[in-house]
Amino acid sequence: MSQALQRIDELRAEAEAAVRAALDTTALEALRVRFLGRKAELPNLLRGVAQLEPAERGRVGKAANEARQALERLITDRGAELEAQELQERLSADRVDVTLPGAPVRPVGRHHLLTRTRREIEDIFAGLGFRVVEGPEVETVFYNFDALNHDATHPARSRSDTFYVAGRDAVVLRTHTSPMQTRSMELGPPPIQIVIPGRVYRRDSDATHSPQFHQVEGLAVDVDITLADLKGTLLAFARAMFGEDRQVRLRPHFFPFTEPSVEVDVSCFLCGGTGLLADGGRCTLCKGSAWIEILGAGMVDPNVFEHVREHGYDPERVQGYAFGMGIDRIAMLKHGVPDLRLLFDNDLRFLEQFG
Ligand code: PHE
Repeated sequence: MSQALQRIDELRAEAEAAVRAALDTTALEALRVRFLGRKAELPNLLRGVAQLEPAERGRVGKAANEARQALERLITDRGAELEAQELQERLSADRVDVTLPGAPVRPVGRHHLLTRTRREIEDIFAGLGFRVVEGPEVETVFYNFDALNHDATHPARSRSDTFYVAGRDAVVLRTHTSPMQTRSMELGPPPIQIVIPGRVYRRDSDATHSPQFHQVEGLAVDVDITLADLKGTLLAFARAMFGEDRQVRLRPHFFPFTEPSVEVDVSCFLCGGTGLLADGGRCTLCKGSAWIEILGAGMVDPNVFEHVREHGYDPERVQGYAFGMGIDRIAMLKHGVPDLRLLFDNDLRFLEQFG
C-alpha cells in the first residue's frame, strides 16, 4: 500500500475515534477544524493529488475523498446527538418550580368580601337550578328603563339620579341589573331561570350608598309560575345564606316592571327574629323590628313580556318572577359591616378579617 493511502487510513481512524469521543459541540467543532479545516492534513492530501504518480492519483484521490465524506457525515450525526443532549440538559437545568414559595415568603391572598359574597349567592342559586349570566354595565336607556316599563317621567331617568354617558341622551351606566331580564329573554324562549350578578351605578354617596355597587338579579319564567314559587325560592336562599331557622315575609311595594311587587324581609339573624337581644335590650341589627329587608321582587309585568313577545313570551301564556338584591348590603348585614365605604377603601385591616 502506498504511503499516502496508509496515511489516509490512519487519519480516518484517528479522526473517527476522536469524533466519537467528543463530549460537547464545542469540542466537536474543534475536531472539525482540526481534521477538515483549511490547514488540515486530509484536505491537503486531496489538494496534492495532482502531484502524485499518475498510477497512484486515482486510488489516493478516491480514498481521500471517501475519508472526507465519511468524516463529514460522522461529524454531522455526532453533532445532532450532542445538540439534543445539550438541549435536554438546558431544559432540565432551566426548569422553574413555580410552586416554590417566593423569598421572602408572602402570605396567600384571599377573596374580597364582595367576591366571596357574590360567589356564595351564585352557588346557592346554582343549587336551585339557576344559570349565572352577565351583561353590559354601559346600557341603553331602552333596556335600562323603557323595556322595564318606566314611563317617560320616572325620576330615576333624571341626570341627578343616573350617570349618562357624556354627550349621549340614550346611554347610561346601568342603574340596576334588571335590563338583563329583557336581554336574556331576547336570546331564547322560556323556560328560563337565571341569576345576573354585576356592577350597577347611581348618583348616591353616604354610609349605606356608593356611586358604584353590586346587585344580583334573578329571573324565572315558565308556564304556571306563581308568587308562591318566588317565596319558596327566596326562603331557600335566605336559609342557605343566613341560617336554617330563618323565615321570609313579603310586603307590598311598587316597581314599574313587576306586578304585584314586593319587598322581601328575612327574620333577623342576630336576635332570632324576636327584636330583643339576650340582655333584654333592643336588637341592634333589626332595631327591634325582628325583620331585615334584603331585596325587591315581584311577578314580571305583562308589559315587560310585550317587548319579547315574539321570542316566545306571550303574556297570556307565560308567567315569571324577578328579584334584585344588593350584594354589598347582604355582605354588610351578614358580617356586621357598619359602613359601605369600607368595602371599597382597600384597607387591609378591614379586608383581612374575611375569607
Ligand atoms: N331593580 C330593582 C332595584 O334595583 C330591584 C328589583 C329587581 C325589583 C327585580 C323587582 C324585580 O331596586
